[in-house]
Amino acid sequence: MKEKVVTGITATGKLTLGNYIGAIKNMIKMQNEYDMYIFVADLHALTTYIDPKILKENKKNILALYLACGLDANKVTLFYQSDISAHSELNWLITTITNTGELSRMTQFKDKSQNIVKQENGTEMIPTGLFVYPALMAADIILYNPKYVPVGIDQKQHLELCQKLVKRMNKKYNLDFNEPRPIIPQLGAKIKSLQNPENKMSKSDKNENASIYLLDKPEVAYKKIQKAITDSENKIYISEDKPGVLNLLTIYASLKNINLEESERYFKDKDYKELKEEVGSVVKEFLEQLQEKYNKVLNSIDEIAKNGANKAREIANQNLLKIQKAFGIK
Ligand code: TYM
Repeated sequence: MKEKVVTGITATGKLTLGNYIGAIKNMIKMQNEYDMYIFVADLHALTTYIDPKILKENKKNILALYLACGLDANKVTLFYQSDISAHSELNWLITTITNTGELSRMTQFKDKSQNIVKQENGTEMIPTGLFVYPALMAADIILYNPKYVPVGIDQKQHLELCQKLVKRMNKKYNLDFNEPRPIIPQLGAKIKSLQNPENKMSKSDKNENASIYLLDKPEVAYKKIQKAITDSENKIYISEDKPGVLNLLTIYASLKNINLEESERYFKDKDYKELKEEVGSVVKEFLEQLQEKYNKVLNSIDEIAKNGANKAREIANQNLLKIQKAFGIK
């Protein structure tokens, strides 16, 4: 029997090239070998306010982009998180074994809650949902009892907490769930913002030029690469001290399916203008192909999500019942 794999993407915004390189690419690589459950995390998207109309659009876009990027609905199970009520039910049980100290140490919580405080002019309006976000994420995972969870590096801390919670739950309630292991890509585990290459490229960045969105017009994406922040040296080589250049070399390598050193060698005698032109062209071509496929799959996503949910629900409910019985409520 194939080992199980689970992962998801939060529907907070439009998907970026970072989501593709850091997460979706690995999902595609794994789809022939594993029994994969891949969802759109719409419940997680509610942890900071989002316009309901936009959330609805984002959900569909992400499901269609999963397919357009190369996931095959005949091989993997694709669904919306909120279609499976077991996610919310297990979430509650998981919060009962999660310490507040563990949640307050999550760097993503610290970052996001700080932003909220700033936006609200000093009034502390931090939703409890944002605080318990990692418990819901652990529930998402545990429901399918996977061996692996492919993610970018920013989710590593959440995964480590999930492992801890599984261990605790197993011990406390005499269960035998797997401690899931993250699968983090060697190349592109953290694609950086084009405007501030110290930070990650993010769906929710306010500066449109900082991220390449998978649904950006290809010419717009090309221009964003031309505007990417680098440094003044105009020499191309791999160095952590040159995060802008390293980011462009990484994007090029990932989209060309070569390693970082090959990418460096290719650009060795070129200047930043040539680097940006070549990376821009590769990104533009990638988006053109992706978007052609995206338009073709749009009509089929409702059916795919429905079938996916039916399959996922069966497994999720079985594992939920097992845990409910162990906790003593069934
Ligand atoms: P999210 O939606 O922020 O990101 C989805 C996936 O994309 C990866 N990623 C990146 N990788 C490289 N460079 C970047 N700039 C970049 N930005 C994002 C993320 O690491 C992630 O793998 N909490 C999760 C969603 C989630 C989930 C789960 C994941 C909910 N439940 C259960 C796995 C298992 C999140 O917000 O990812």
